[in-house]
Amino acid sequence: MDTNFLLAPSILACDFSDIGGALSLIEKAGGDMVHIDVMDGHFVPEITIGAPVVASLRDKTKLMMDVHLMVSEPEHFIPLFAKAGADYLTFHYEAAVHIHSVIEQIHKAGMKAGISIVPSTPVSFLSEILDMVDLVLVMTVNPGYGGQKMIVPCLKKISTLREIKEKSGFRYIISVDGGVNAENFHQVLASGADMIVSGSAFFNGSLERIIASRPESPDKSLFFPGKGTGGGEN
Ligand code: DX5
Ligand code: ZN
Repeated sequence: MDTNFLLAPSILACDFSDIGGALSLIEKAGGDMVHIDVMDGHFVPEITIGAPVVASLRDKTKLMMDVHLMVSEPEHFIPLFAKAGADYLTFHYEAAVHIHSVIEQIHKAGMKAGISIVPSTPVSFLSEILDMVDLVLVMTVNPGYGGQKMIVPCLKKISTLREIKEKSGFRYIISVDGGVNAENFHQVLASGADMIVSGSAFFNGSLERIIASRPESPDKSLFFPGKGTGGGEN
């Protein structure tokens, strides 16, 4: 099994009174990004973290910030998260009308752009924009809460995205979010995922052995080929 994957622990599952401590834990585990779940109480029921919190974490870590917007009309939040220091800004296909324009706005603001799909949205809906995005976030639970059980049939979408990526030469990172645990981890990787987002399983320690099995210096060039329209460095 190829253990050369990117890891983005989600602080949604950490102790919110000690997010600094959670960042240290992610760094120690060799995390590549910190996944930050932003919820607006409208697109999803909960309200979590906003741009001011992201801004205050920016100076505390060198980790790339992978901000997952679970908000309606994400276009309104682009300048705020750019200013806060987000590296990747991912929004939901289901939450925006002018997807192409939102991606362009994220790039213009100097960030990498990600698009996310909920379990009921097929990959085919992304066909016109897959060449533009830097990351595709496949939700394997319905967004809104951590600690849910993975909806396994969603893994087919990862294989589809992998196939398209290989045929087309598009450079998006295939990221998977929701219910990843020690039991299904290898199945997720075998489907073709580049990056694993994990909240509960990362913070309860059950992924420790899998994470430790990663090569000491993973070949990041596989994931960050450094070409395309993205706004960031990499
Ligand atoms: C859910 C969030 C996820 C969440 C994953 O809506 O987008 O990032 O933190 O948590 P686990 O790994 O517990 O499913
Ligand atoms: Zn998320």
